[in-house]
Amino acid sequence: MRIGVLCSGGDSPGMNAAIRGAVLRAVEVHGFEMIGFMDGWRGFFAGDSVPLDRRAVRGISPLGGVILGTSRVQPFLAGRGDAGDLQAIRDRAAEYGIDGFLLIGGNGTQTVAQLLTAAGIPAIGLPKTIDNDLGGTDYTFGFDTAVSIAAEAIDRLRTTGESHRRCMVLEVMGRDAGWIALHAGMAGGAQVMLIPEFPESIEQISEWVLSVRDRGRSSLVIVAEGFRLVGSDEQVTRDGLDGFGRKRLGGVVELLAPLIEERTGIETRATVLGHLQRGGSPTAFDRVLATRTGIAAADAARAGQWGTMAGLRGDRVEMVPLAEAVGRLKTVPADRYEEVRLTFG
Ligand code: F6P
Repeated sequence: MRIGVLCSGGDSPGMNAAIRGAVLRAVEVHGFEMIGFMDGWRGFFAGDSVPLDRRAVRGISPLGGVILGTSRVQPFLAGRGDAGDLQAIRDRAAEYGIDGFLLIGGNGTQTVAQLLTAAGIPAIGLPKTIDNDLGGTDYTFGFDTAVSIAAEAIDRLRTTGESHRRCMVLEVMGRDAGWIALHAGMAGGAQVMLIPEFPESIEQISEWVLSVRDRGRSSLVIVAEGFRLVGSDEQVTRDGLDGFGRKRLGGVVELLAPLIEERTGIETRATVLGHLQRGGSPTAFDRVLATRTGIAAADAARAGQWGTMAGLRGDRVEMVPLAEAVGRLKTVPADRYEEVRLTFG
């Protein structure tokens, strides 16, 4: 059997470990051949590929980024995979002699895996995203690394914030789900955590910041990029564009920090953590989860379990139907937000 591997979407720490796990299991144990496509679907269509064997994956688990590269290039020109798009993929796969795909990616990529399999082009999904917003799995690899980096940023911002009696506002990634803000905020003891799932008003946020000051402390506010203020112009905070239609570097934090300062009279500083959350070496947890994901995906290919995704269920990596993973985002539920909201301020 010959399997094609590619990564799609934003990178996520642990992708190298996932490739290594899949290659070692598929090549060394099952006797498959594996081929990797560079920069996702770009490499697939452009004929830019590398053979993946034991030597190619030696020592890559601790490395940040991904050896194959990744991109947001879509395989379907027409959006959801019309017959022409599918035939183009089928033809190209036949040229490479590929029997099936291992697709490493988030929601969009898993949807592609589902559409391909439904069209008779076998695919298996390996879930990755630092946002942890994918269904069908308890955690995605990359999330733990992003949370560790954000928690460390909180620790560092706290000492400088306390020294100046300032309110420090940290923006983390999380376009549609606030998992990074929630976990990093909990780990770092942030006084306020603002996430897309639960809009709050500037009056309420200011009240929390003032009550922290009344206790003689300085506030650390962590905010996910997709957070919306109650009563604000949604467009300003959601699309991340400035008045000239250019992408703003810090979306929500640029709006929030001056408002907090204005309302509370407390000097406030903003930090956008940005892509620091995705760069560098993965944590041990992410390396282990990703390796096990790769192994499970290789075993699933051997067993002919196409149309599935290797999801973490408790402490086991299990193959779940792609239909369970795609279509709906895994957002922070009310009880998880209540756990932390009760301690705000
Ligand atoms: O989907 C993961 C993610 O890190 C989001 O949290 C973030 O909004 C987005 O990717 C950033 O993408 P890019 O690297 O293309 O700017």
